[in-house]
Amino acid sequence: MTDVTFILPDGTQHSCIAQEGLSLMEVALQNSVSGIIAECNGAAACATCHVIVDDSLARALDPVSEHENDMLDFAAAAREPGSRLSCQIRVDARLNGATIRIPAET
Ligand code: FES
Repeated sequence: MTDVTFILPDGTQHSCIAQEGLSLMEVALQNSVSGIIAECNGAAACATCHVIVDDSLARALDPVSEHENDMLDFAAAAREPGSRLSCQIRVDARLNGATIRIPAET
């Protein structure tokens, strides 16, 4: 199991035990983390699962695909260097102890 903590826009922290193999979006929904809407249910077609990861996690994760990169331009919140679609991140050991920021608008 992998421990991840979502940080909501108001600073509230929501720690979760994440099952490996799920997407980070699925973990957020399972744990009722507000701000992750996931209208397209993980098809990388809505950008309502936008999250921000810190620099070290961004470097550790697989790179953003061309499609994910295009979709991030449609996210409601301003894009940041650590912006990712949480549906495109699979939980594995690289995420253990990670903090994932939820932007103010998704
Ligand atoms: Fe729609 Fe991630 S759930 S882009």
